[in-house]
Amino acid sequence: MGNELVQLTVFESAGTQAPAIASPRATPGSAPGRLRTFYIETFGCQMNVHDSEKVQGVLLARGMKPVDDHARADLILYNTCSIREKAAQKVFSRLGAFRKGNGGAGKVIGVLGCVAQQEGERFFERAPQVSFVCGSASYSKLPELLDRLEAGDRRVTGLSLDTEECFETELTRRDNPFRAYLTIIEGCDQRCAFCVVPMTRGSQRSRPSEKILAEARRLVEEGYTEIQLLGQIVNAWEDPSPARRSFAELLACVAEIPGVRRVRFTTSHPRFFTPDIVRAIDAHPALCDQVHLPVQSGSTPVLARMLRGYSREEYLERIDYIRQARRTISLSTDIIVGFCGETRQDFEQTLSLMQEVEYDQVFSFKYSPRPNTLAATQGDALAEDEKGLRLAELQEFQRQIQLRRNQALLGATFEVLVEAHQPRLGQAVGRSTTNRVINFPGSPSDVGRYLRVNVTGAGPNSLVGVRV
Ligand code: 5AD
Repeated sequence: MGNELVQLTVFESAGTQAPAIASPRATPGSAPGRLRTFYIETFGCQMNVHDSEKVQGVLLARGMKPVDDHARADLILYNTCSIREKAAQKVFSRLGAFRKGNGGAGKVIGVLGCVAQQEGERFFERAPQVSFVCGSASYSKLPELLDRLEAGDRRVTGLSLDTEECFETELTRRDNPFRAYLTIIEGCDQRCAFCVVPMTRGSQRSRPSEKILAEARRLVEEGYTEIQLLGQIVNAWEDPSPARRSFAELLACVAEIPGVRRVRFTTSHPRFFTPDIVRAIDAHPALCDQVHLPVQSGSTPVLARMLRGYSREEYLERIDYIRQARRTISLSTDIIVGFCGETRQDFEQTLSLMQEVEYDQVFSFKYSPRPNTLAATQGDALAEDEKGLRLAELQEFQRQIQLRRNQALLGATFEVLVEAHQPRLGQAVGRSTTNRVINFPGSPSDVGRYLRVNVTGAGPNSLVGVRV
């Protein structure tokens, strides 16, 4: 892992980066002409999934057609994730399939998202079959970049990070028929020592509340009843419009739109988690009984080295606000195991915090050093094996907590939105406002409906039930 880091150069400030569009180097006679079909594969977070929906909208508006097999596509796009080394490697393994002209002939291959931004023009050296790299802060340039590709440019880049606005598109073609993602803020201005996001997604840009609310109303007209507001730090959102709504007011406004039944928001940062968010949840039934609040570590010294901007106690204060809500709000978190210098005692602090909070879900990861982050320069003290052991211990610890918590729900009744039907099992799959998955006997026509389900069985990761 360390070797790869050495090869990655340090980012300059946005102003000194390569121009948004590299100079054309067309090879005469090599123009692919009109790109008619596209294939897009997405790795990583909900922001990436939603970015791909926006990109897809741009491609469809050009008259291009989606295909579900890359072999049939003129344009192959990978929307990449670089949050951990393993995620970043995925795109290179995909690209391996196109080496030595193997299946790549006559196709244009593009890399979007965080690895594209991180690697920039070096991508072309590492993977010569790629002719297009574009980071998320440059997606507004997509039509222009695609024109250049069609004109025969072999090396096209969109790598500028100095965008001041979000990537706005009314063309977005959403994949999920139930939950509509809606971006409210892009980028990140925090400098957590482990995190690559500020370098790959650029600085923080908030969308004006009017635009957000107009998009939410459009979604209801399209038939969506659940809206998930998205941002790397969703609750750092600040209204740039004269209305100057607070984040909690924005939540209330979205929840009050007639036809909106569920509103979720992700991801919140504890630093910006204020009691008015909980008051908004209390006041608006459409705001889901769920908060995702990444803690990363339960040890104050580790949190300080991570530059998270809060102590264990300050984090627990935020949890207290949430626990004081009138409704029972389900809690989930992200945890990094084996950050630089994490001692056994630090790790046990994380376990004790988990015991104290009793999360309903925990997303846990082994610390992975990332290029150009502060922590990457501090070395990665903990051995990979030890990280693995701690991760397994933490996950088993949490499994027991979840099992206990889910078993306590036996006999309870939840309203679920049915998201799928599994014909082989004759089971419908629903999700509660607390984000729990409940399987119950149902039919394909249940999909998309809100039904009441009584819990009859509980495992650590899901519930089973029957319709009431
Ligand atoms: N190593 C491991 N996990 C990381 N995350 C972010 N950066 C790293 C890293 N370098 C985790 C954090 C974050 C989640 C999205 O990914 O827990 O909240």
